[in-house]
Amino acid sequence: MPSNETEPLYGGRRPGRVTVRDIAAAKARGEKWPMLTAYDALTAGIFDEAGIPVLLVGDSAGNVVFGYDTTIPVTIDDLIPLTAAVVRGTKRAMVVADLPFGSYQASPAAALQAAVRFMKEAGAHAVKLEGGIRVAHHVEELVAAGIPVMGHLGLTPQSVHAFGGFRVQGRGEAGDRLLHDAKALEAAGAFAVVLEGIPAALGARITEALHIPTIGIGAGADCDAQVLVWQDMAGLSPRSPKFAKRYADVGGALRTAATQFAEEVASGAFPTEEYSYR
Ligand code: KIV
Repeated sequence: MPSNETEPLYGGRRPGRVTVRDIAAAKARGEKWPMLTAYDALTAGIFDEAGIPVLLVGDSAGNVVFGYDTTIPVTIDDLIPLTAAVVRGTKRAMVVADLPFGSYQASPAAALQAAVRFMKEAGAHAVKLEGGIRVAHHVEELVAAGIPVMGHLGLTPQSVHAFGGFRVQGRGEAGDRLLHDAKALEAAGAFAVVLEGIPAALGARITEALHIPTIGIGAGADCDAQVLVWQDMAGLSPRSPKFAKRYADVGGALRTAATQFAEEVASGAFPTEEYSYR
């Protein structure tokens, strides 16, 4: 039977759900791995079969599912059913739920209350929250309660208005502050940290300095893992950021399918007998 200690996180034949121990072991082996967002059971199932070891039910659902301009309006009640669907649609991936804006900032107790809802009502295996030193006590509280926590630093979308727009973070001296934030998250017990929208050299510096894995999104090639919003990665989003490589044209394929369906209905070519009951 394959062992989780030796099987790679991506591409191996590991039994069971991915755990925080597997993620720590991958860092120790110097292995790189992929993470994607997911918001529904069917696409989550496809990513699970493709071997993506960690799926994030991101508050990016605000943009790609609910059609907002930012993630700020997203609520816990918006994300719980999506998280539950992703858990139901998968067998192997660790499912991480994003704590949305306003659900955790007030206090460690607020963070615990929010995280507990995701664990109990949706079956999430871990939660993610944004911020560094200012949320270190929140992370400690969750970890003490037995909840795995993923941090998120850099161009954290919930702070978009404080940043004055979606701008690269961590240039110059701000890079030192981000490194301190990353170390604070590690010390507080986070099992991994997302680095978003920072210079590649800073991504490399933080990755080198931490014992927990870094997960980059616009943070260069040296992060331990890489994450993308699946609609950006698969070419469904009409616009996507510079760092988001498009690996498919799902938007084009859907447009073609919808147009062909519409034309066949309009011309009477669909449904034929094959698609009808006797
Ligand atoms: O909400 C999200 O999808 C995220 C990732 C982009 C890291 O936070």
